[in-house]
Amino acid sequence: MSRTLLIVKPDATERNLIGHVVGRLERAGFKVAEMRMVRLSEGEARKFYAVHEGKPFLDDLVAFMTSGPVVPMVLEKENAVEDMRTLIGATDPSNAACGTVRQEIARDIQCNSVHGSDSDENAAVEIAFFFD
Ligand code: CDP
Ligand code: MG
Repeated sequence: MSRTLLIVKPDATERNLIGHVVGRLERAGFKVAEMRMVRLSEGEARKFYAVHEGKPFLDDLVAFMTSGPVVPMVLEKENAVEDMRTLIGATDPSNAACGTVRQEIARDIQCNSVHGSDSDENAAVEIAFFFD
């Protein structure tokens, strides 16, 4: 078993899609191990996205991620990181494969409904960010 972090982003919590995302994950074989709802401060959002420091989209991304509640959760499954990235689809929903979560519910490249860790190393850091 391995672990990864998913966050339901503000555009999805606002549209009452938390249960939809959890259902997609559970049907795909993921076990929800931890979950909470939080409203990120600007400082917390900047810290979480520190890897994107200097990118032109960072300020807008931080404004978006602090605009409403988010739901981080820890998911367990074999090959969790890679399988979740496949399940959520490409960053830009117009490029996301058919049947992926982002293709189905994301609004655009910024308001793309979910975050998913991109490596085992980053998953560990991101899980520690939200959960003890
Ligand atoms: O989330 P993912 O790992 O697929 O993409 P990323 O390249 O790590 O970017 C993090 C987040 O920044 C994305 O999920 C988008 O919400 C946002 N983003 C954006 O607003 N505009 C871009 N051109 C790229 C990313
Ligand atoms: Mg990323």
